[in-house]
Amino acid sequence: MVSRVIPVEPFDLVIFGGTGDLARRKILPALFRRFRAGQIRSDTRIIGAARREMDTAAWRNFVAEAISAHARDAEGDREEATAREGFVRMLDYVVLDASGETGWAQLAGLVGDGRVRAFYFSVAPRLFGALAERLHQHGMADGDSRIVVEKPFGRDLASAQELNRTLARHFHEGQIYRIDHYLGKETVQNLMAIRFGNMLFEPLWNSQYVDHIQITVAETVGVDGRADYYDRAGAMRDMMQNHLMQLLCLIAMEPPARFEPDPVRDEKLKVIRALDPVEPDNLVRGQYAAGDGMRGYRDHVGNPDSTTESFVALKAHISNWRWAGTPFYLRTGKRLRDRASEIAVVFKDTPHSIFDDDAGRHRNILTIRLQPNEGIELGVTIKEPGPGGMRLVDVPLDMTFAEALGPEEADFPDAYERLIMDVIRGNQTLFMRGDEVEAAWAWTDPAIATWDGGDGMAPAPIPYPSGSSGPRESLMLMRRDGREWREIRA
Ligand code: BG6
Repeated sequence: MVSRVIPVEPFDLVIFGGTGDLARRKILPALFRRFRAGQIRSDTRIIGAARREMDTAAWRNFVAEAISAHARDAEGDREEATAREGFVRMLDYVVLDASGETGWAQLAGLVGDGRVRAFYFSVAPRLFGALAERLHQHGMADGDSRIVVEKPFGRDLASAQELNRTLARHFHEGQIYRIDHYLGKETVQNLMAIRFGNMLFEPLWNSQYVDHIQITVAETVGVDGRADYYDRAGAMRDMMQNHLMQLLCLIAMEPPARFEPDPVRDEKLKVIRALDPVEPDNLVRGQYAAGDGMRGYRDHVGNPDSTTESFVALKAHISNWRWAGTPFYLRTGKRLRDRASEIAVVFKDTPHSIFDDDAGRHRNILTIRLQPNEGIELGVTIKEPGPGGMRLVDVPLDMTFAEALGPEEADFPDAYERLIMDVIRGNQTLFMRGDEVEAAWAWTDPAIATWDGGDGMAPAPIPYPSGSSGPRESLMLMRRDGREWREIRA
C-alpha cells in the first residue's frame, strides 16, 4: 500500500493567536508536516496575527523553534532543514488588535482574492465576536472565507448559543469549522469504516447482542500550564461534553445515508438527543491527590479549596430502538496510571453453553484502541490447544495498525494535520455543527447541575491517588451492575 498525498490548491491561512500555545504546539507543526509531505504548495500564505509586537523575521524564528520542538519528524537532517527554510518563507506576521483598528488594513492587504481563505480563531472565545465583526468590516468574510474555532465552545448551553449567534452574524454554518480534534484521530475515523464498511458487525450492533459499551480516555498528564482554564472547566466540560460525547455518537449512531457532512452530523445529533439525563447515582467525580511522587490537583492549580473534578465516570442510556437496555459507561481522567484510550464493545453471553461448566465461558469483546498503539482487537473464544479435554480460552484477533500496515503506513497524520486540510478542502464531515454542540451542552448542563447549583458550593470530588485508576466509586459504578471496567493499560 502506498499512501496518497493529494496536494491542495494554494490558500491563505490566518492564525489569530499566532504566538499562542496551540499555534506553537499543534497548528504550526501540523502545517509544516503537510508542507513537508507535499500537500501544501509553496505559494500558500500563512499569516500569524497577534497582539505581541514582533516582525515577520521574529515570527519565522518562533515558528522554526515550534517545529523543532513539536513536529514529530523534525529530526534535523538536511532534507528537513531545506523543508523548514521553504516553509518559513511562506510566513508573514501582523501585529493586530482584535477589537481595535491596529493591523486590520495590513491584514486585508495581505490576504488575497480568488483563493480559499481560512481564519483560525486560536484565541479566547470572548474575542470571537470582535474578530468576526472586523473580518466582515474589512471585506474578508465573503463566501470563500472559512473560520476555524477551537473548544471550549462555551461553558454551558446559554454561552454556546450566544457564540453561535455571534458567529452567525457574519458567517453561515457552511463557513464555520468547529474543531473537536478527537474526530481527526485515525482510529476514530476507522470506527466508521469498521461499522459501515463491513457486513460482519452491523447486524450485531444493537441491544439484542451488545451487553454494554465502555469508553475510556485516560491520561497521565495533570493540568500542567493550564491550571486557570482547567480549574474553571473540569473534566465534564473539558473532555466529556466534547471528546467522549463524539466517540459515543460515532459508536451509537445509525448508518448515515452517505459519508458526507450533514448526513453524518444529523445522525450524531439524533444520538445526543436520545440520551437520558444522567442520574446523580450514575455519576462519579474525582480529583487527583498526591501519589507516585506527584503533586495533587489542588497543589497543582494553587487552589487549596478547589472542587473541580479531574476525573468523571458515568453511565448513560440511549433511549431508542437500537440501544434501549444497553448501558454506555464513560470515564475520563487526568493523572491516571497509563495514557490509554479505547472503546470496548462487550457482547452478550451465548444464549446457552453446550460445554461443561469447567470449560469456562468468555464474551466477545471488540476493542477499538485510540491511543497509543492504534488498532482494533476482537476477542474470540476457541478451544485451548492440546490435550486435557474441552477448555475454552479467549484469544485476540489483533489488528494493531503498525503491525498490519508496516511502520510507514501507520505513521498517521496528526489529527490537526487532517482537520486543517479538511478546512482547506471544504469538507465539514469531521467538524461539529452548531446544533450538535448545543445539544451536547443541553445534556451536560443538567449533569453538572446535579453537583453545582451555581452558588460555588459544589461538594468536593472524591480524591484518588495520582497514578491510579481513579476513585474506587468508579469501579463500583460497574460492579453493582455485575460488570467490570477494562484495565487502564497502554
Ligand atoms: C484537550 C483537553 O481537548 O484534549 C485536554 O483540553 C486534554 O485537557 C487533551 O489533555 C487530550 O488530547 P489527546 O489528543 O492528547 O488525547
